[in-house]
Order: sequence, then C-alpha cells, then structure tokens
Amino acid sequence: MAKALSHPVFARVYPRIAAFADAHGSIEHRQEMLAGVRGRVVEIGAGTGSNFRHYQPEVTQVMAVEPEPRLRALAEKAATEAPVPVEVVAGLAEELPLEDDGFDVAVCSLVLCTIADVPGALAEARRVLKPGGELRFYEHVRSERPGFRRVQQVLAPLWRLPGGGCHLTRDTERAIQEAGFTVKDIRRFYFLINGRANPASPSIIGTARPST
Ligand SMILES: C[S@@+](CC[C@H](N)C(=O)[O-])C[C@H]1O[C@@H](n2cnc3c(N)ncnc32)[C@H](O)[C@@H]1O
Repeated sequence: MAKALSHPVFARVYPRIAAFADAHGSIEHRQEMLAGVRGRVVEIGAGTGSNFRHYQPEVTQVMAVEPEPRLRALAEKAATEAPVPVEVVAGLAEELPLEDDGFDVAVCSLVLCTIADVPGALAEARRVLKPGGELRFYEHVRSERPGFRRVQQVLAPLWRLPGGGCHLTRDTERAIQEAGFTVKDIRRFYFLINGRANPASPSIIGTARPST
C-alpha cells in the first residue's frame, strides 16, 4: 500500500472548512473529545492540526500521523504553536509507523469517514495502544433517522470527491465495536451550523477501550 496520499484540491479547501466549522462549534466538540486525555497520544489523520491547541498539560507527547503533504505541512506549523510537544509524521492509519503498546490514547477526529480501510486502521490503533489505553473519537456518521439517511445516501457519491474521499454513511460506532473496542461513552448529536443541518451533521463523540 502507498504510504502517502495526495488530495491537492481537498487539501487547499479543507483548512477553510475546518476553520469555519471550528468557529461554529467544532472547537467545543474537539475540547469535549479531548477532555481528561493524558500521557502519550497518537493522533490519526491529523489534517491541519486543529486539535493540537486543545491538548492539556497532562499530555506528554502527541505523535500526529498525516499522509497528505499539504495538510501535513500545516500540521507541522500548528505543532510549533501547540501547548504540548507534538511531532508530525507521514504515514497511513492502516500502517502506522509507530511501535506496539506505546500510547495511552489514540485520537480520531473526522477521519474514520475518510480512511479507506477502517477495520485495518482500528486494528492499528489497537496495536499501538498500551494495555488499558483508550480511543477518543469525534466523527460525523450515518444518521439514525431513515429520512435523513436516505438524503445522505443520495448525496454520498457527490460528496466523496470534493470531500477528499469522505463517506457520509458510515456506521462508525459499529465499526469501532467490530474492531474489538468497547464503547464506554458516546454522545450522538446533530452538529447544526447557524441552526441548520447539513449532510454531515449526524455526529458522535466518545471514548472506547480495547475489549479484553
Ligand atoms: C476531514 S480531514 C480531518 C482532519 C483532522 N483530523 C481534523 O479533525 O480536522 C480527514 C483527514 O484524514 C486524512 N486521511 C485520509 N485517509 C487517511 C489514511 N488512510 N490514513 C491517515 N489519514 C488519512 C486526510 O489526509 C485528512 O487529513
């Protein structure tokens, strides 16, 4: 499998989308996902590094993996301004360039919608987590409302290309469970922007632990 991934159009547009979403509530979602995180963290598909400034001092190191070169360059810049040590490395979620049992927390935000091989990526997250480690996630997902889900299904093929390969209809909670995690906490909500829903509004934030 190729170790890099190039989405030049998405990589140019995503920083603006991320900033817009952050200004309309995503910052609070990121903070909620990261509340209480401590120790060594691996962040999978870190994008522009939007999470970095929200890590608390209890975090001793963040290894941020990002395969897209333009986004990785922005993440490297964000790392220099982060309140905790952050190292940004190239790599794919399905083949993390990291040691076994090395991390207290694995962070996935808005990335399990895009990764090609979700079971492979979650198996890798399990591999690099220490025993007793945890997965923190903030993801947009398939709606539980049948009518809304139908709209997502219709729009999904149109969304994928400008979205850098993003899938609108993934059942990410189930994927996490099927990968051998037990979901400890989960909040399901619609992320409304200016009071309005969009196809990526159905969202989850939560914590999962490898099942014993
Ligand atoms: C919508 S962006 C989210 C970025 C960031 N996590 C955030 O919260 O803003 C999706 C990210 O997933 C990355 N990505 C896509 N496929 C990936 C893969 N196979 N392994 C790791 N990252 C991947 C993209 O390069 C991009 O940075």
